[in-house]
Amino acid sequence: MTDPVLAAIRSRRVVRALTQEPVARATLEAILDAGRWAPTAGNRHLQQFVATDDPRTLRVLRMVSPGMIQRPTAAVVICTDRPAAADYGFPPDASGLFVDVGTAAATMMLAAHALGLGAGPVSSFSRAAAGVVLRLPPGWVPELIVCLGHPDPVQPAPMKAGRRLGWQDLTRWVPAE
Ligand SMILES: Cc1cc2nc3c(=O)[nH]c(=O)nc-3n(C[C@H](O)[C@H](O)[C@H](O)COP(=O)(O)O)c2cc1C
Repeated sequence: MTDPVLAAIRSRRVVRALTQEPVARATLEAILDAGRWAPTAGNRHLQQFVATDDPRTLRVLRMVSPGMIQRPTAAVVICTDRPAAADYGFPPDASGLFVDVGTAAATMMLAAHALGLGAGPVSSFSRAAAGVVLRLPPGWVPELIVCLGHPDPVQPAPMKAGRRLGWQDLTRWVPAE
């Protein structure tokens, strides 16, 4: 695999063991900058990235996030600006709003990996509590936390370890071959 983008896509893994070394602010900014290049429905950019490298905020955020196994030294919380989405005419259940969270998260996790950091998404957290911890403006709904930090050399076993699916397992040709 010689193409660096394809190589990065293949080698990125969710990192759940992180060292206590802080994430440099410039690196965090580079990851946030990558996020803004992710495609969004209608090119609307209805997500807001709420970033923190504050140890106290991260500690409290972790307390309200059962799915946060790692102890991140930085995090980006991807929020949907619901009032802005409504203004644009998106119904609350518009799939594009959720897809946009995913494209931003995937792009930022790949950027983190390219910059030598470990990243892991967390969807299991209290939206209400996170909103308070992060002092979110009314109508900003936190959808996904991207945990960031320097990877520990020793990582826990991957969730649901087993055979990684091949693209053939995930693909159906039309017409059938
Ligand atoms: C929408 C979404 C939510 C996730 N939520 C969590 C979570 O709450 N906690 C966690 O440890 N991992 C979470 N993950 C990470 C997945 O478990 C992980 O991507 C999967 O185990 C595959 O790992 P890999 O990306 O290293 O191959 C989430 C992933 C996605 C896409």
